[in-house]
Amino acid sequence: MGYNEPSLPMIRTRVLSPQSVDQIRAAMARYPESRSALLPALHVAQRQVGYLSVEAMEDVAEVTGLPLNEVASVASFYTMFSLRPVGRHVVRLCTNISCLLCGSDEVLAHLRRRLGVGPGETTPDGAFTLRVEECLAACDRAPAMLVNEELHGRLTTQAVDTVLDRARGDGQAVGD
Ligand code: FES
Repeated sequence: MGYNEPSLPMIRTRVLSPQSVDQIRAAMARYPESRSALLPALHVAQRQVGYLSVEAMEDVAEVTGLPLNEVASVASFYTMFSLRPVGRHVVRLCTNISCLLCGSDEVLAHLRRRLGVGPGETTPDGAFTLRVEECLAACDRAPAMLVNEELHGRLTTQAVDTVLDRARGDGQAVGD
């Protein structure tokens, strides 16, 4: 007669730090429903982990009390969230109409040259991921790009060089 070992509950180690969990709980406290804190919670997780891994989304689901599929569907809806590993600095250039009219195509060509990668790609040293976006809500400062969480507007190729050099040089994420 076979012996079935009693199954033990799975114990999963959180990837989110206690500080991140505290930040998510603080965001939840600002709203009557925890669902309303989902976007800030995903930002907290992405800021810590670098992208929204399955484990990070599981932690967000656990802390907010929301189903994992709801967390994952929101995370996959917004282009500001990355579901795959990215470089230490994520450069998001807007190529929508206002920015295009103000020269975002030139800026994109310059970014391609400087970084040696195209949109959606990461430099071999893992320093930069390049993305293009539809609108950064900074149309009055076109052409605009976000580097991590810092907005840069009225871009010129020289301004792009300054931002990239600063990001590469200080070893810190721009905007940290
Ligand atoms: S069109 Fe580029 S920020 Fe809106």
